[in-house]
Amino acid sequence: MKRRDFIKNAAALSSIAILPSTAWALGKSGSLRTAHIGVGGMGMEDLRAIASHESVVVTALCDVDANNLAVAHKMFPDAKIYRDYRKLFEEMGADIDAVVVSTPDHTHAPASMMAMEMGKPVYCQKPLTHHVAEARAMRKLAEEKKLVTQMGIQVHSFYDYKLATLLIRSGIIGKVKTVRAWSPKNWGFDGPAPQGEDPVPAHLDWNLWLGTSPQRPYKENYYHPGNWRKVLDYGCGTLGDMGVHIFDTPYNALELDVPKTIKNQCRKPTGFGFPEHNIVTYTFPGTRYTAKTLKWVWYDGPGAPEIHKELRLPDNEKLPEQGAMFIGEKGRLLLPHFMELPRLIVDGKYRNMDAEIAGIGKAENLGAPIRNYDSEGKKHYHQFVDACLGKDSCSAPFSYAARLTETILLGVIAGRFPNKTLHWNSANASFAEEAANAFLDAEYRKF
Ligand SMILES: NC(=O)c1ccc[n+]([C@@H]2O[C@H](COP(=O)([O-])OP(=O)(O)OC[C@H]3O[C@@H](n4cnc5c(N)ncnc54)[C@H](O)[C@@H]3O)[C@@H](O)[C@H]2O)c1
Repeated sequence: MKRRDFIKNAAALSSIAILPSTAWALGKSGSLRTAHIGVGGMGMEDLRAIASHESVVVTALCDVDANNLAVAHKMFPDAKIYRDYRKLFEEMGADIDAVVVSTPDHTHAPASMMAMEMGKPVYCQKPLTHHVAEARAMRKLAEEKKLVTQMGIQVHSFYDYKLATLLIRSGIIGKVKTVRAWSPKNWGFDGPAPQGEDPVPAHLDWNLWLGTSPQRPYKENYYHPGNWRKVLDYGCGTLGDMGVHIFDTPYNALELDVPKTIKNQCRKPTGFGFPEHNIVTYTFPGTRYTAKTLKWVWYDGPGAPEIHKELRLPDNEKLPEQGAMFIGEKGRLLLPHFMELPRLIVDGKYRNMDAEIAGIGKAENLGAPIRNYDSEGKKHYHQFVDACLGKDSCSAPFSYAARLTETILLGVIAGRFPNKTLHWNSANASFAEEAANAFLDAEYRKF
């Protein structure tokens, strides 16, 4: 089934609901009635953070796992509960103002696009989508309907990331030639696809969990909860999971668009899981903050990153567990992930940046670093709520999130063609290597 048909069919179920929830209309009522799709795992954090805004009324909750739904319902007993988001939209379309999507990646676009088709602002977890074509479609629909949107990269506005962005743009290391970024997390799986089938637990609706993805027998511990990240049909591996957070600051700071070439050094495809180790090399067209072209190298999996002289720290200090290194004409800037100050390295030694930070801090009203994740993390959510109420604007709208996600997904696709350089043509959204184009989109299953 084509994506468009899936979304249109479902939106047509509700005739009254296709009224755009404009900031003006929302602002008049003074409150924001939210619907939450996926309320276990990160969805619970999203629910708490959104609900902590004084103007939010949690109005509908949806989860395919009855246990997770029951926990959330206990917290918000007045909210209506659903297992199927299509039914939620059909019945509650006129009674909700905004939608939060916190499901596994393969359900981000189907649920978000249905909500947007109905004119609802959407907060969607990262990565924005599972396929490149979906990311482009999400961006287009949000633009057409002029909707408030935000991707769930809540660390986007943290002090250290804002500071790093301003330092890079101030030219502290000159034009940037290379970025190296890493995470030793392992959201890959090198083993074979599991055999056989396990009974589906009574609390889980497996058909709804699969949603638009192909039918597959249920196996315990392989998919729900969380482990779906490792599987081609549902997640995006470590790059899609951590890469979105860690790429975000360099991507934003350097004003990058999508890359021209992508190569993933990894094992051969198994047809089931993502590789457990990936080294993905991108080249980007230059911008005003970079050399003529920018090289970007991503390392993931246990033991990452591979040793490289550009990642060597003064006094043989250990690298932060996850992070990014900007390599410029005049030095390097290390940005740990996360809630740690960036550090400047020149000629193999750390250089004090107090004067630069003080200057930037004053000019940009940066404030002081806050190391409390709970208070800082909420800001990204509250920004979305305030934007829905016409009082703020979002810092990670789908217009930005779709490009960042596309970049990530191109690296994920390159993992299907180990050690081969793929050439991306952004203008017509295709690879020069025809075989790779098969992975830009997927048919939706009727469920
Ligand atoms: N921004 C962050 O820091 C951060 C951190 C963790 C996860 N995430 C993102 O959050 C999303 C969820 O990840 P997770 O770790 O919570 O996964 P999870 O598997 O632990 O939880 C997903 C929840 O969604 C529910 N669900 C699954 N399919 C559904 C559907 N069709 N309709 C309604 N509910 C459905 C599940 O039952 C479960 O409650 C992912 O996109 C992930 O990338 C973001």
